[in-house]
Amino acid sequence: MSDYKNEIEKRRTFAIISHPDAGKTTLTEKLLLYGGAINMAGSVKGKKTSKHAVSDWMEIEKQRGISVTSSVLQFKYNGYCINILDTPGHQDFSEDTYRTLMAADSAVMVIDASKGVENQTKKLFKVCVMRNIPIITFINKMDREARNTFELLEDIENVLGIHTYPVNWPIGCGKEFKGVYDRKSRNILAFTANNGQKEVAEQIVSIDDDNLEDVIGSLHKDELMDDVELLEGAGDDFDLDAVRSGNLTPVFFGSALTNFGVEPFLEDFLKLTTPPLPRQAEVDTVSPYSPYFSAFVFKIQANMNKAHRDRVAFMRICSGKFEKNMEVYHVQGGKKMRLSQPQQIMAQEREIIEEAYAGDIIGVFDPGIFSIGDTICSPQEKFRFKGIPTFAPEHFALVRQKDTMKRKQFIKGTNQIAQEGAIQIFQELGSGMEEVIVGVVGTLQFEVLEYRLKNEYNVDIIMTTLPYQHIRWIANKDLDPKTLNLASDTKRIQDLKDNYLLLFTSPWNITWALEHNKGLELGEFSED
Ligand code: G4P
Repeated sequence: MSDYKNEIEKRRTFAIISHPDAGKTTLTEKLLLYGGAINMAGSVKGKKTSKHAVSDWMEIEKQRGISVTSSVLQFKYNGYCINILDTPGHQDFSEDTYRTLMAADSAVMVIDASKGVENQTKKLFKVCVMRNIPIITFINKMDREARNTFELLEDIENVLGIHTYPVNWPIGCGKEFKGVYDRKSRNILAFTANNGQKEVAEQIVSIDDDNLEDVIGSLHKDELMDDVELLEGAGDDFDLDAVRSGNLTPVFFGSALTNFGVEPFLEDFLKLTTPPLPRQAEVDTVSPYSPYFSAFVFKIQANMNKAHRDRVAFMRICSGKFEKNMEVYHVQGGKKMRLSQPQQIMAQEREIIEEAYAGDIIGVFDPGIFSIGDTICSPQEKFRFKGIPTFAPEHFALVRQKDTMKRKQFIKGTNQIAQEGAIQIFQELGSGMEEVIVGVVGTLQFEVLEYRLKNEYNVDIIMTTLPYQHIRWIANKDLDPKTLNLASDTKRIQDLKDNYLLLFTSPWNITWALEHNKGLELGEFSED
């Protein structure tokens, strides 16, 4: 196999999702520790201390302790090259999670063992299921009191509509957490729970070992035997195809904080997942092993570093090899170009890279030309990847600047933030740029907008919530929206790409519009 094919084989690119506080940061940190990417526990996390999670860039994240943006970390482990994509933990940013998942080949779902699938994050997890990518579950915090194991699995199955396969089985929990039983090897990986202890001693015993009782105690042994019998009788069978098509999630139990069960999880994870898979382009699928470079933009982030006021476009490489200074073709811009300052991000350190392969994520300096979903490919082999769908916003507000002298900054700020996909902006037909209609999927996005306009663009805004709840794109291309017969509370607007849209306060108004305007076609998603 040629060198670059070898490199691609080694790649694993996954997103990590969880409800805030389930332990995503702690798990990420432990994974990085195994990869030798960091030397010290605590260098990634520590929201309550002065140190901040390396993947949290923005002030607002630090203040609220939530992850708004998603970042990328790369590390090497046992000959593999692993890319972790962090995702926001709040449902209001589920669209960002969806885009990040577009760049991932699989997802790790971290769940707090005392809580199960949490209400607020159902939406986030469902987004994950929507993408049909393999989901591997890590049930964390077994060193604390946990919910019944069968119940936890049932919860995942019922809420997410995905089958579960426990790869290992916990023995006790909290102070009584004795370790996990690995179903494949029939071994028990024993753990000594010791409050506050960060490093644990591990011991391996077979389930058939006569001394098992001495290690986990007779009560736990009996319980384990019963559980195992039940599992073998009633649980789903392991089916790798079902895992890879996202219909079955392998489940691991452990404790990220005490570093228990993390390495076995990582090792199995690498076996359960595949190297980068072919990607669907508009006409064909593109093999990662194609000799031609291709990538798509899934995230744009401005002002990651306030001192530089820069804007970085993150792209996922889908095929071939990227080399610094190589000439590429930006399909949507219709231009040949060289990607400037290609970088990979390791924690807050950005490293200029010389080369990267299918599966990798690179960030490039963006002078304002890229949009989410854009294709970058080799000038010798031009094509376009399928776009990333835009979620229909569910909340709307009218936004204008307090100080009219700040009009320029206001327009720049709202436009840039919209280009990043953090909000969607629209304009009422015939109105000027003094005010814009902002649409969001989750209301927390409004707060981010207000905060960022103030901090990055020095603009104070006045925001008035609008009563609309439904948005429809007018699919008839030559239709003048002014000619439409609409209910008085339906608003005609247009987006950044000059598409016409309508805002409705109720589904009833949508029906009214369709009934009173023959031939009117309304779409729920923007086509481009
Ligand atoms: P997140 O990124 O998903 O939001 O969660 P994060 O890793 O920040 O973990 C949230 C809290 O849960 C942290 O405590 C962390 O130490 C704790 N935690 C994570 N994994 C485990 C685990 O396996 N067992 C136990 N007992 N706790 C765990 P904190 O009090 O918010 O922060 P800190 O004071 O520990 O820094």
